[in-house]
Amino acid sequence: MLDNNLKDKTIVLCVCAGIAAYKSVEVLRLLQKQGARVRVIMTQGVKEFIGSLTFQVLSGNPVFTTLFDKGEDSSIRHIEWAEEADLVVIAPATANIIGKIANGIADDALSTFMLAVKCPVVVCPSMNTYMYENRAVQRNIDILEGDGFTIVEPGTGELACGVTGAGRFPEPRFVVDRIINCLSPKDLLGKKVLITAGPTREAIDPVRYISNHSSGKMGYAIAKIAEFRGADVTLISGPVHVESPLNVTIIPVLSALEMRDAFLSGLDDTDIAIKVAAVADYRAKQTADHKIKKNDDQMIIELEKNPDILKEAGMKKKHQFLVGFAAETRDLVENARKKLDAKNLDMIVGNLVGDPSSGFGTESNTVTLFYRDGKKESLESMDKEQVAHVLLDRIMARIRER
Ligand code: PMT
Repeated sequence: MLDNNLKDKTIVLCVCAGIAAYKSVEVLRLLQKQGARVRVIMTQGVKEFIGSLTFQVLSGNPVFTTLFDKGEDSSIRHIEWAEEADLVVIAPATANIIGKIANGIADDALSTFMLAVKCPVVVCPSMNTYMYENRAVQRNIDILEGDGFTIVEPGTGELACGVTGAGRFPEPRFVVDRIINCLSPKDLLGKKVLITAGPTREAIDPVRYISNHSSGKMGYAIAKIAEFRGADVTLISGPVHVESPLNVTIIPVLSALEMRDAFLSGLDDTDIAIKVAAVADYRAKQTADHKIKKNDDQMIIELEKNPDILKEAGMKKKHQFLVGFAAETRDLVENARKKLDAKNLDMIVGNLVGDPSSGFGTESNTVTLFYRDGKKESLESMDKEQVAHVLLDRIMARIRER
């Protein structure tokens, strides 16, 4: 499961000379939080920015800085560490180390170690914008990408040198996210997955709307895990405050009608469609152009039915594996089964809402999976990312059986 994704993995963190080197400490801590064993290699230059003792104490291992360390095994350490690594991350990666690795130069501990590495490598270029945009540096980055290295795009903004542009060290949590991604099995490779998440908002007037409590967490978790597992993911999202998963195409929408257009136009090109969004069943028949003033004691808003997006998709679907979610406050089994049939779904995920550990806004969810053939499977309460893993496992198993 995700929390333990790096459990017992050996990660070699390579730190090069850049002002952002202090952020590698945060990367180290986050990797350890995920259960990884971390070893650190530093270039000579980075010692001007940060001491090796920091990395030594935090990693609990000697730090490898020169091929000629006095340690008893130092002469072969670059080979041993390369053999034992599950993944290598170079963060920050300077123009110098990128150029050396791209061209097979081995003239210090880090570049020599890199020639012996066989596991996946994540490279986080981090430097001044002009240097990053330099054609030679871009050419070398392209070579690394072509050689199968994962490049984490640097952030954009004001750099320590005062220039504004690309070249910032990415957020440490993004670096760790890409590391977990790199080590995740890619069983969804080649699959196009379309997901909806969050609530819809149905305007009453320019300042008021009808909506619900969906936070988007469940749908975003599925999008993130599907991307980790190699899928090409599009996420149609109502208004939420959840961090966007990396490398996922996000289509923001507000109303059910906008969600319908986006979902149905993406459906043909999709292998797996998962509709997690809590769509408002009704919208105001008329949206006022200006803020409605309070006059009478009572106010009546006339509502009209929104289209049932999933039902339309169920009628249109051909090869797609179509999954719905059912949020219920009671009679989960009956209501979920009714929706599965009415919407012509392959699977529906039922969850009781209103429970503190399940449904709207929570970190965890307690779900029951209902299948087209009448089978059902109740899962214990788990983290929404873990629910996403199990759900994708079950979907892939059913697709393989087809
Ligand atoms: O976002 P979170 O805070 O993490 O909460 C997650 C969740 C509780 C929203 C999620 O787990 C969930 O249950 N989503 C479905 C909520 C819902 O609207 O269920 P429903 O029973 O009303 O709809 C059934 C299915 O039809 C859903 O897949 C829904 O997207 C779809 N639908 C509903 C109405 C409509 N007009 N068009 C639709 O496509």
